[in-house]
Amino acid sequence: MSWWRRPAEDGQSRQGPGVAPSLLAADFADLRGEAASLEAAGADLFHVDVMDGHFVPNLTLGPALLRSLRPHTSLPLDVHLMVQRPLDFVASFAAAGADALTVHVECAQAGEAMREIRARGARVGLSLNPATPPQALQPWLAQLDLALVMAVQPGFGGQPFQPQALAKIEALAAWRAAAGHTFAIAVDGGVDERNAVACREAGADILVSGTFLFSAADRAGAVRQLRGG
Ligand code: DX5
Ligand code: ZN
Repeated sequence: MSWWRRPAEDGQSRQGPGVAPSLLAADFADLRGEAASLEAAGADLFHVDVMDGHFVPNLTLGPALLRSLRPHTSLPLDVHLMVQRPLDFVASFAAAGADALTVHVECAQAGEAMREIRARGARVGLSLNPATPPQALQPWLAQLDLALVMAVQPGFGGQPFQPQALAKIEALAAWRAAAGHTFAIAVDGGVDERNAVACREAGADILVSGTFLFSAADRAGAVRQLRGG
């Protein structure tokens, strides 16, 4: 069983990609309720967007908020660190209950931050922006639990999906198979029921979705649509 896949209640193995609601699209005034709602809708893990106003022109949440959320969901919390200095935040988010921490290959501290994430016992993720070629991840693939392909320029939810992300998913899947790596491939930004088909076909293991999931009238149906069910 993959760390990011929720065990099926009926004991049957779940098919299709994992679905990770991005909490950036949640009503922050009711984060506990929103998380409970998406957990009940069948989400596999939560994607928690952390922004520092420097690496991206937006500011979101800190470890205190993650610590408050932690006791209210048993699903894995994957923290997406869109921050200039991830080393400043690894220890506090890991202590707050992060199961995985994902840093950006574009920031100078990426290598050191990944070592610190591993040392803190969390799973290691590495992300790349739309303008970054997938080759930038190659030196690190052997030590990853997660490769996060951005399909939008990070900083805000609700942006349109950039289909160039699909070739990166394919490249990462090919490199993983050729080398026997074990990292999961996630795609993040503008994912909805239409482009989820291409993401699945390209080889994505996890679909991160904010706007599509949180704006759906039928959230369980929206989770199933992303999974291809
Ligand atoms: C953007 C974030 C994404 C975003 C996804 O910087 O990393 O996780 O919140 O939200 P949607 O699905 O609305 O693009
Ligand atoms: Zn994200």
